[in-house]
Amino acid sequence: MSLHIFAIQDELSDAIADYVQQMSAKAIEDHGQFTVALSGGSLIKLLSTELVKDPIRSEINWPAWHVFWADERYVPLDDEDSNYRLAKELIFDQVDIPPEQIYPINPALRLAGAARAYAKAVRTILPPDENRLPRFDLVLLGMGEDGHTASLFPDHHLLDETRLWVAPIADSPKPPSMRITLTLPVINNANYVAFLATGAGKAEAVFQAIEKAGSTCPVPAGRVQPTHGQLDWFLDEAAAARLID
Ligand code: 6PG
Repeated sequence: MSLHIFAIQDELSDAIADYVQQMSAKAIEDHGQFTVALSGGSLIKLLSTELVKDPIRSEINWPAWHVFWADERYVPLDDEDSNYRLAKELIFDQVDIPPEQIYPINPALRLAGAARAYAKAVRTILPPDENRLPRFDLVLLGMGEDGHTASLFPDHHLLDETRLWVAPIADSPKPPSMRITLTLPVINNANYVAFLATGAGKAEAVFQAIEKAGSTCPVPAGRVQPTHGQLDWFLDEAAAARLID
C-alpha cells in the first residue's frame, strides 16, 4: 500500500491524473485495453481537472478504454445524481472513448435486474479469471466520512457478499437510497485500486481504514485489500491528518 499526501489540491489532481495515465499505458501495453471502474462524488471532479487537459490528455490512448462504475445511483442517466452524467460532462465529452465502450447502468430495468444486467456487461469485457472473478485494471474509489466506499456502507450485509459481482442496494444511508455496487471480491481482484479522499471530515475514517485494514475492518474502505494487486491512497493533508500525528 502506498500513500500519496499533498498540501495543494492542484498537486493532488495532477498526481491522480498522472497515475491514471500510467495505469492506462501499462494495461494497454500489456493486454491491449484498459478497464477502469469509476466512483462518483468529488473523485470525478478532482480527476478530470488534469486528465482531460494536455499534456496528459494527449498521452492517453482513449479508444482502448472500457469504462465501468464501482457504484452508480439508480436514477436516469441524465439525472443530476447520476455518476454517469457527471463523468460524461467532465470526461467523456472531452475525449474520444468509443461510446460503446462506456457501460452505464440501465435504469429502465428494476433495481435487481439492473444489477444483474450490469454484472453481465462486466462479464462481456472481463470474463471470470482463475479466481472466477472479473479483473479490472483499475478501480478508482472515493470514501465517505463514515468510511463507506462504492456503495458499501458500515454494518451493511453487502460487506459480506461473496457470490454476486454487482449487488443492488435499496437502503443506502447516502442519498439516493437505491444504487448498484461492485462487491468487495470484485474490487479486491483488481490489478490496481486507488482511493482519493480529501478534507478534515475524512481524517478519522482514513486513519481507521489504513491502521485497521483487513477483512473485518469496521470501516468498509479498510476492507479493500487487493488480493494480488496494488493499493494506493491519494490524500490531501487534511484527510491525512490522523496519519501524520
Ligand atoms: C457515490 C460514490 C461514493 C463516494 C463517496 C465519497 O456514488 O456516492 O461512489 O462512494 O465516492 O461517498 O464522495 P465524496 O468524494 O464526494 O465525498
